[in-house]
Amino acid sequence: MPPVCTETSPEISPKPPHHVGIIMDGNGRWAKAQGKGRIEGHKKGAEIARDIVGWAQNQGIKQLSLYAFSTENWNRPKLEVRGLMSLLAILLPKSLPSMMQQNVRFRVLGDISPLPRGAKKAVEQACQQTISNDGIDLILCLNYGGQQEILAAVKAIVQQTINATSPQQALAALDLASLRNAMWCRDIAPVDLLIRTGGETRLSNFHLWDAAYAELYFTDVLWPNFSALHLQHAIDDYQARERRYGLTSEQLQAIDQKHD
Ligand code: FPP
Repeated sequence: MPPVCTETSPEISPKPPHHVGIIMDGNGRWAKAQGKGRIEGHKKGAEIARDIVGWAQNQGIKQLSLYAFSTENWNRPKLEVRGLMSLLAILLPKSLPSMMQQNVRFRVLGDISPLPRGAKKAVEQACQQTISNDGIDLILCLNYGGQQEILAAVKAIVQQTINATSPQQALAALDLASLRNAMWCRDIAPVDLLIRTGGETRLSNFHLWDAAYAELYFTDVLWPNFSALHLQHAIDDYQARERRYGLTSEQLQAIDQKHD
């Protein structure tokens, strides 16, 4: 069995990834190349974020998480931050009918408490209205940071340990599963395929814990140019990989034969 991840099992994977996480990079460069302002890039990026839900469903993906706003993005120019928040407040309510029609459950990963009122309300409304849908989870990562997620979990665990009648026992019971259980991602599957558009090859604080065994896929395509075909290429690439989780190929084949 894999040494660390509790919800994964070794497999050679012709199946589609269950959870795809995407770092939607390149909106600013796309806008610049068109002689437009950065917000226009984000607007176009939001259109692709809307469209990819259907493409992902067609591919059999069950959870799709999109990195829309990181904990570090607050440091961007005020106008850009305001523009991104307005996009959320305006576009989310507009997307609700199609989310209902597509059976999309909208969810959030991150701390939305500091979001401006309009954006927060739009997010809460979308979560509430789509809560019973079960076609695909669209998880918007908002004011999200992987390090912050881990820190929040550690703080919760330390608090539980302090409150426990036997702190020693509580500490001894701490393992990878109980730590993950304290994280925001506790009821979301680990990331199978992590895609980053825009040509950079880094994680930028996205899903640090849950991408431990993710397959990484980097493409130069700028997010506003990303299409159903690009998603298909990423999935084809994923399906051609052998997910070994620290085992050898031979061990995997033996496991596979046992399951045949
Ligand atoms: C990174 O591109 C993109 C972001 C920081 C924001 C992503 C947001 C969207 C795609 C819009 C989503 C909005 C809604 C309402 C869901 P960048 O700006 O860093 O691009 P650059 O590297 O070319 O400058």
